[in-house]
Amino acid sequence: MIVLGIETSCDETGLAIYDGEKGLLAHELYSQVRLHADFGGVVPELASRDHIRKILPLLDRVLDNSNLKKENLDGIAYTAGPGLAGSLMVGGAIATSLAFALNIPVIGIHHMEAHLLSPMLEEKAPSFPFLALLVSGGHTQIVSVRGIGDYELLGESLDDAAGEAFDKVAKLLGLGYPGGPIIGELADKGNYKKYHFPRPMTDKPGLDMSFSGLKTHTRNLINEQDIKIPEVKHDICAGFQEAVIDTLITKCKRAIEQTGLNSLVIAGGVSANHRLRKKMNDTLKQIGINVFYSRLEFCTDNGAMIAYAGHARLSNGERSTVAIETRPRWPLDTLREIK
Ligand code: KG4
Ligand code: ZN
Repeated sequence: MIVLGIETSCDETGLAIYDGEKGLLAHELYSQVRLHADFGGVVPELASRDHIRKILPLLDRVLDNSNLKKENLDGIAYTAGPGLAGSLMVGGAIATSLAFALNIPVIGIHHMEAHLLSPMLEEKAPSFPFLALLVSGGHTQIVSVRGIGDYELLGESLDDAAGEAFDKVAKLLGLGYPGGPIIGELADKGNYKKYHFPRPMTDKPGLDMSFSGLKTHTRNLINEQDIKIPEVKHDICAGFQEAVIDTLITKCKRAIEQTGLNSLVIAGGVSANHRLRKKMNDTLKQIGINVFYSRLEFCTDNGAMIAYAGHARLSNGERSTVAIETRPRWPLDTLREIK
């Protein structure tokens, strides 16, 4: 089955084609980062309008690069949520009308499920069951994954997501948007031990997390220090980043002990952070845990993960209707299980 995947939940227009026999055939991505940079964050109305401009040219490109015509598609998958309502509508409208015109099935996909399954596109792919740490701009969740659609949410951030904390701290430091990659880069030049940063909720039992206190702590430190001095800025980036990573590692180790699972998938934009990857690998390998990621370009939003998840569900007979499905809020543990 050949499936077109369309991702438009936030500020990335991603399209891809996944073939059940040959794997990923092509993927195209347009990032709106420059459009939103001056505003220090995503402006929803601008995002949806830009998806409209980019989606059809990207569709032509992804078909060309796969040497396919629209008529060769067997199904279409689109991100139905969670995400920005207007942006979701664009992908949903194109996917649904194209599927209707071609008389092929369409399916609405959960964005976080697609992130969670994205390492399946890699040569080193996990097998079920596994534990997943989802770390994106909107979510920080620890999930027990027994199979596709069989998810148990074990813990999550009670306030800011990890990526959101990176973005907010970057804003406080006068760095650009999105902040995660910039903080990651500056942190490489800094000393993470220079200033003290708390590791929130690591002394409390359970798997929930909280990053807003860490952000406030960082804001207070920024107000006390002269961040015009590059070294100060680098040390703050390094210290903040280390605190987020240590907190995530503590919670993951606890989830591993609690569940007895020995595979961990780390997915979502923050999983592109190379310090996080290194420290997770070093710490978890010592206790015999296999860690899985997607390639860097598929950590952040992309169409390939939607095409993959869509293929899994469509080839299992699942279908959405022609009513465009958008669910800006959509709990992951309410999805249908694939038997
Ligand atoms: O998964 P994603 O592209 O979008 C959502 O589903 O939210 O994640 C975007 C988030 C942003 O907050 C961004 O700052 C963060 O991922 N991010 C990073 C890195 N690359 C992206 N955070 C830390 N280090 C990175 N290298
Ligand atoms: Zn995402």
